[in-house]
Amino acid sequence: MRYLTFALTKGRLADKTLSMLEKAGITCEEMKDKDSRKLIFVNEELKLRFFLAKGPDVPTYVEYGAADIGIVGKDTILEEGRKLYEVMDLGFGACRMCVCGPESARPLLSSNQLIRVATKYPNIAKDYFYNKKHQTVEIIKLNGSIELAPIVGLSEVIVDIVETGSTLRENGLKVLEEVCPLSARMVVNQVSMKMENERISKLIEDLRKVI
Ligand code: PRP
Repeated sequence: MRYLTFALTKGRLADKTLSMLEKAGITCEEMKDKDSRKLIFVNEELKLRFFLAKGPDVPTYVEYGAADIGIVGKDTILEEGRKLYEVMDLGFGACRMCVCGPESARPLLSSNQLIRVATKYPNIAKDYFYNKKHQTVEIIKLNGSIELAPIVGLSEVIVDIVETGSTLRENGLKVLEEVCPLSARMVVNQVSMKMENERISKLIEDLRKVI
């Protein structure tokens, strides 16, 4: 039996991912050691391998087959647009992709004006403004602290993740429109899904029972 490899997302989703896997009896003790610099972990008994990667890299590992399975946010799946199967909504990491800004920017969203939109998710923002709203906008790619953009005058609005809403509140910004709901998903390499169908289907079934 060959190893099935999981690419897991570092950061916010990591703890919830590990506890979900644990509940389903898929454990990897080594991975819990936060001081370890080891990159890849093995469960010999179940013939599983795990590694943690940056979110946007997870769909890349899965598309190329370097990982059979990935656990990653829907935001990243939409943004990266990789060829893979999205097989299950895991429920955790629930949040929303939204257009946000100061209340004063609201009329700009219905007047078809050329506005600037700052975001870490240029593909999601383009799809929303060009294909759904049919509004031509200038997209400005940022890498974090997106809420700064409308405050310092870089853009009129942002497209960003809203979870509790406290970052917006503390910075005088509001949700102006909702783009889509988000949560963690399980994704599978298209060839692995065929070649390892039995094992992967069993894994999906086991995880479905605990989520
Ligand atoms: C995310 C997102 C918002 C914030 C939303 O940023 O980009 O800034 O969390 O959460 P809230 O609604 O609960 O306040 P993250 O902390 O991942 O860091 P980043 O700004 O570097 O992207």
